[in-house]
Amino acid sequence: MSKESEEHRRGPQYKQAKRQGYRARSAFKLFDIQKKFNIFKRAYYILDIGSTPGSWLQVAKKFAMENLNKYNDKYYHRNHFKIMGVDIKKVSPIEGIQIVQADATTPEFQNKIKEFFQDKLDLILSDASIAKSGNKFSDNIRQTNLCFDILTLAKFLKYKGIFVIKTFQGQDFEKFFKVMKNRFLYVHSYKPKASKKGTNEMYIIAEKKKKITSWTQEFPQN
Ligand SMILES: C[S@@+](CC[C@H](N)C(=O)[O-])C[C@H]1O[C@@H](n2cnc3c(N)ncnc32)[C@H](O)[C@@H]1O
Repeated sequence: MSKESEEHRRGPQYKQAKRQGYRARSAFKLFDIQKKFNIFKRAYYILDIGSTPGSWLQVAKKFAMENLNKYNDKYYHRNHFKIMGVDIKKVSPIEGIQIVQADATTPEFQNKIKEFFQDKLDLILSDASIAKSGNKFSDNIRQTNLCFDILTLAKFLKYKGIFVIKTFQGQDFEKFFKVMKNRFLYVHSYKPKASKKGTNEMYIIAEKKKKITSWTQEFPQN
């Protein structure tokens, strides 16, 4: 496929993203989430899960950098930011960002989070998706299982921290949503305007992590 026809297939949002220097149109989903929930307010230590090609990392860096001056007051403030992105696939380097090529659901990766953030994470973002098989029923189950695995990483989030995660609507969505409500004070489901029409993706925005001692996995009962 020629470059022109590939860009045409990907649509106007893709072209807009490229014009603005973002690696993917997904950047606009994160901007929509930020506009509605202000998730980046005072966020300096950020983990992004499922980062390839890296547009959410680019957006996270933009807001973290702005925060350095914006919130320079007596309240919670840092004079530097730390951002880590993880993906099974390769992410091309972004200056000032730690990139890890790994499966985010492994114990080895948990050690990396601990070392890098020292339990001071302000915000976890997850746009991680399973590779879809086309069977909606089993894809939903696999995505929910991935979300439950990723949710265990919230143990590294600071008290009152924010967690954003992509889920698929359908099988087990309510079950996952309920578990999120047990762990965070405010939990919302939101479909960004930039999400493609007809997709069943749904983001959960969970604010103010509660004080919980046990972060063991809670798989849905299939
Ligand atoms: C929709 S893409 C993310 C796009 C990205 N947010 C951006 O804006 O550029 C989903 C990514 O999740 C990754 N992924 C899926 N399961 C994962 C896992 N267990 N650990 C790390 N990455 C994973 C996939 O490799 C894929 O690159």
